[in-house]
Amino acid sequence: MTQVKHNQPAILGGVPAVTADHAPANRWPLLTQEDERAVLEVMRDGNISTHPVIRKLEKDYAEFTGRKYALAHNNGTAGLFAAFYALGLKPGDEVLVPSATFWASVVPLLWLGAVPVFCESEAERMGIDPEDVRKKITARTRAIVVVHLWGLPGKMTELLQIAKEHGLKIIEDASHAHGASWRGRPCGSLGDISVFSLQGDKLSPGGEGGVFLCDEYDYFEKAACLGDITRIIELETPARRFAATSFGIKTRIAPVSAAIARSQLRRLWENNQRRNDNLEYLSHALKKLGFHTFLAPPHIERVYFEYLIRYNPERCILPRDVLIEALRREGCQVAVPRYPLLHQQPLFTEGAWKEIARPDPESPVPEYDPNALPKTRATNETLIKLPSFPNAGRGILDQYIHAFEKVIAGAEDILQHHAPQNV
Ligand SMILES: Cc1ncc(COP(=O)(O)O)c(C=O)c1O
Repeated sequence: MTQVKHNQPAILGGVPAVTADHAPANRWPLLTQEDERAVLEVMRDGNISTHPVIRKLEKDYAEFTGRKYALAHNNGTAGLFAAFYALGLKPGDEVLVPSATFWASVVPLLWLGAVPVFCESEAERMGIDPEDVRKKITARTRAIVVVHLWGLPGKMTELLQIAKEHGLKIIEDASHAHGASWRGRPCGSLGDISVFSLQGDKLSPGGEGGVFLCDEYDYFEKAACLGDITRIIELETPARRFAATSFGIKTRIAPVSAAIARSQLRRLWENNQRRNDNLEYLSHALKKLGFHTFLAPPHIERVYFEYLIRYNPERCILPRDVLIEALRREGCQVAVPRYPLLHQQPLFTEGAWKEIARPDPESPVPEYDPNALPKTRATNETLIKLPSFPNAGRGILDQYIHAFEKVIAGAEDILQHHAPQNV
């Protein structure tokens, strides 16, 4: 009888499977005395605005990714804006972008008058879909934004090939992918320009911050002129003449953030290893229950900014809402993905984007259809977000596995008692 209760889903009156405390398991960022010392060093020095720690952070990132130039920014959004600007995007230029990403991968390009063209994301790795990218290239297409969503590098072989064939530039948004690599090449080295966010949730956080990376001096110089007044003064090229005005934006990182970011980068590998061990363990167990867990293929080393799985409606008869509710009753912290699809957002569907991009009234402009991208919408509807367990031990993971096992085994009973409208 006790056994029956033990295996009975909590939503049907059983005992919840997860009793462990989530707070220590999910604690992030893990700030240590080393981080404190790094911050104190800046504070004691007293130069809290242009401290050389900024240059050191840039050097660290250039080495980490093998790039020639790095420019630290006050956040990843500013780094992405600088990337779009440095490419020389002009009004009416089209940029192929995923809809399944955080808005900062896309929205800054509107300020240059460029036009985002949303593409499908493929279901296997959730990156921008090369097949759809090919279909959406026009004479106005200039670039592709590639995001390694949740830390899983996308279909780079095909995307690099398409870019080469059509003379397109790749902006790599590596904000989720510190430490990931594709065919031995680190994320952050794969685009013409690459950007990391150092925001506090990220795998190598600085509080607020971003890093812009490239190998072409011209891109670096443009980004420096746009946002880093200290750098413009240091330039040895004619662009130095802009030192007295800049190009109107100031995006330098704060030294305290740079200090934390440097110190965190030194611990990236050990921190990533813990997440990877935990989430690979969980993934192997959930895979047996029929979930697609986004384990990386052999040529990819993925990392886990966040942990999402996809359920297979053919293996799991519960609608997603019911599945999530049943897992929550077990004590699991599960949810739908954090980012809504961008092409369905009012900024695009209501046309408000035109207030920023100011498209030429004589030229055709896209109408953004919330019903577009059927593949991406279908995939998105089967995703479930779990904690990324940055600091967890096996205990809580085993409880999660037990929770999933109970819910899957009890799916028919759950469905009978909890039709979607009752949830
Ligand atoms: C994919 C992606 N790109 C860019 C950004 C923007 O970074 P930031 O918050 O540092 O501006 C984020 C931040 O969450 C992100 O998730």
